[in-house]
Amino acid sequence: MRTLLIAGNWKMNAGPTEAKELADGMVAARQGKDDSSDILICPPFISIPAVAESFSGSHLKVGAQNVHTEDNGAFTGETSTSMLNDTGCEYVIVGHSERREYFHEDDALIAQKAKKVLTDDLKVIVCVGEKLEDRKSGNHENIVRTQVKAVLDHVDANNADNFVIAYEPVWAIGTGETATPEQAQEMHQFIRSLLADAWGEDEAEKIRILYGGSMKPANAEELLSQTDVDGGLIGGASLKAESFSDIIDIAE
Ligand code: G3H
Repeated sequence: MRTLLIAGNWKMNAGPTEAKELADGMVAARQGKDDSSDILICPPFISIPAVAESFSGSHLKVGAQNVHTEDNGAFTGETSTSMLNDTGCEYVIVGHSERREYFHEDDALIAQKAKKVLTDDLKVIVCVGEKLEDRKSGNHENIVRTQVKAVLDHVDANNADNFVIAYEPVWAIGTGETATPEQAQEMHQFIRSLLADAWGEDEAEKIRILYGGSMKPANAEELLSQTDVDGGLIGGASLKAESFSDIIDIAE
């Protein structure tokens, strides 16, 4: 039985002051609730300490949206795993489609980042997903296979407990379009089969595969009820304590 992970990705929203207010609102919304799901917020780097402070003493966890592959040095503008560990982060997202598209991150770099995150005792959420043209041409499984295998080639099965995949069809991100529950389940099952090929059935069964792409209270139930959908990576709907909390209630 996999523990669901409900993760918010705030992207480039909420500086420290706003982040603290929003995080306080989330703590208040979950107070007294005996959540069985893992709950995570990934704010911008600069707002991580504010969110960590707000979450301390609660069951909500904080993560990062990106990381560099080196420990320190002359890499202007970058942040390392040791810095994230120092702020109380538990998870790091790597390979988000916006990183792939706007910052030209390729599968090789994403694999290195995933490896670095796991080596330094953080949990990784590796994002994969096809673009609309790949879906339309029926090439979506090939695209996702390539993205998943690129990472699995560099990470071994010992890391399964700290390894999460997020399937985010690019055409569903921030568009209001959502994959149908059937499309999500089909792809999640396919991803689990790739994990089983690499690490064996038992390990594959342990790994959480999140769905991301316009998840909101109105569609969370049908997505989260799919056998291989083990949570959500939520953008827009995680920027309001109420809608994020409503999704958690649905997951519970
Ligand atoms: O990381 C989150 C995803 O990109 C989904 O964003 O819920 O705003 O579509 P969205």
